[in-house]
Amino acid sequence: MIDTPTRRTVLGAGIFAAGSLLTIEAALAEAPLALTPQCHDGGAATLAQTEGPYFKPSSPERIELIEEGMAGQPIELAGFVLTRTCKPLAGALLDFWQADDQGRYDNSGFRLRGHQFSDAEGRYRLRSVVPGSYVGRTRHIHVKVQPRGGRVLTTQLYFPGESLNRTDGLFRKELLVRTAKNAGWLAGRFDFVVA
Ligand SMILES: [Fe+2]
Repeated sequence: MIDTPTRRTVLGAGIFAAGSLLTIEAALAEAPLALTPQCHDGGAATLAQTEGPYFKPSSPERIELIEEGMAGQPIELAGFVLTRTCKPLAGALLDFWQADDQGRYDNSGFRLRGHQFSDAEGRYRLRSVVPGSYVGRTRHIHVKVQPRGGRVLTTQLYFPGESLNRTDGLFRKELLVRTAKNAGWLAGRFDFVVA
């Protein structure tokens, strides 16, 4: 039989390969994680937070923020963009920016900055390193999420088990990423619910 591209290879070649999110789900399922608020019909949208001083417009379109030689714990963060009635939203803009492993932002270039669009099933996927803390701030990732034709949600995501979560006045447990170890990587899961 002639080897033609199959649905499997086409899906496997996509940046939102179905297996990827399933791997994260499997890793998360094995970990003893506290339940985080799930999307439920009539539930609240994801909490908005301040943009902070380091946002820069016009980040490159990419899901891969890790560059060669970059220090830090690699993380693959994934999830859905959902409406308040839990419908996945395709084509939503997600713009991420964060500090490096040492808590430093790149304010001259676009290191650890990137935007992307949710796929046909409303999924996104980001590969990065866990950001370092800096003065007054626990580890966090900044993000802007904008559904097509909708309003921008600006917020920040946090990590479980961080002692500085207790002293950072901006920290909110509703914005915790669910995490699980996955063969050297940290698998992270966060679903955005937009108004
Ligand atoms: Fe920040």
